[in-house]
Amino acid sequence: MIKIGIIGVGTVGESVANILENNSDIIEARAGKKIVVKHGVVNNINKKRNVNISISNSADDILDDSEIDIVVELMGGVEEPYKIVKKALSNGKSVVTANKALLAYHRYELQELAGHIPFSYEASTAGGIPIIGALRNGLSANHIESIMGIMNGTTNYMLTKMINEGALYDDILKESQELGYAEADPTFDVGGFDASHKLLILASIAYGIDAKPEDILIEGIENISDIDVDFAKEFGYEIKLLGIAKKIGNGVELRVHPTMIPQSSMIAKVDGVMNAVSVVGDCVGETMYYGAGAGGDATASAVISDIIDIVRGNNAPMLGYNKPLESGLELLSSDEIISKYYLRLEVSDESGVLASISSALGELNISIETMLQKTSSTPNRANLLLSTHLSKEKDINNAISKLSKLSSVYGDIAMIRIEA
Ligand code: HSE
Repeated sequence: MIKIGIIGVGTVGESVANILENNSDIIEARAGKKIVVKHGVVNNINKKRNVNISISNSADDILDDSEIDIVVELMGGVEEPYKIVKKALSNGKSVVTANKALLAYHRYELQELAGHIPFSYEASTAGGIPIIGALRNGLSANHIESIMGIMNGTTNYMLTKMINEGALYDDILKESQELGYAEADPTFDVGGFDASHKLLILASIAYGIDAKPEDILIEGIENISDIDVDFAKEFGYEIKLLGIAKKIGNGVELRVHPTMIPQSSMIAKVDGVMNAVSVVGDCVGETMYYGAGAGGDATASAVISDIIDIVRGNNAPMLGYNKPLESGLELLSSDEIISKYYLRLEVSDESGVLASISSALGELNISIETMLQKTSSTPNRANLLLSTHLSKEKDINNAISKLSKLSSVYGDIAMIRIEA
């Protein structure tokens, strides 16, 4: 019999304990041993939990228990779980975590500390989708060319409801929290940080890139307006918050931002809390993974798969490699991104304005693909919506600052990248 301890018995922790009990027959058949939860640890022992396990509020009740083989860390946060997980490893216990923030900041130290002790984190990225297993094992023969996907269920749920049903941002964010999809602090979801943590984890397995969230381009969905959504629909795009990792020469681009993607692409059809990740490998070509990206049972499914894997005796290196992957791969600056862009400007509705804007763009070698004028709620002004041909991020940023200075342009200029 294998005994586990769960540190953090919230939505996911409750599901882990309940599924281990309810599905114990198939879990034992697959793992080869019975797996039981010996103990759970929570911050607030007065809160009622929907589980049938002993509970206390001291992590040491698990970490110092020699009968417990596997520590399951589901508490969230970064520094506190880091201390706990380090102690678990130094006590020789295997670790399973769903904590993407912990890994976004400490994955390399943890890989070093874990050595040959099993350390698994399938649930950290894309909820119930086995994307870590796919990258660590299934695609391990490939050089990875790109990873692109919807890695945050909350924002996908929000964008779907806002775009398809015209739901209001605040109402739908509240609903995501009630459904248990959102982070304790939902700005992690809407600001793109949660997706960035997941992207960094995937990029480590694929490329061995050691970057922190602060090192990469992260934009959230807070500023998407109805008018952007209407433009996207009119020109055949969906708007999705994407995490993108691309190998370009000896560099790797890592970025998270709202993206216009053609309605015909598979990722564009992924709605609600579902996540989807496309991975392109040099041998296999494109592969695609789809499933629930958040929610107690879906995430617990991934946590338990890690536990079963450890009980079976699998102890692949934490990030999937024993020595450096591809030498010399570097994180590219976001200035180097090449993309198509959508821009939205509020301008004076008078002659000569369009000419001044297209000439300002032309001076920076930015070529316009489509342009649309919509009425503004302010008299004598218009909203100008345009998309560009492929351009460099640095040039677009220069263009935005140049256009903002024109007397015929009012307020901030909105920009969304287009992944065609
Ligand atoms: N808040 C996260 C999401 C939970 O919405 O995807 C799963 O990581």
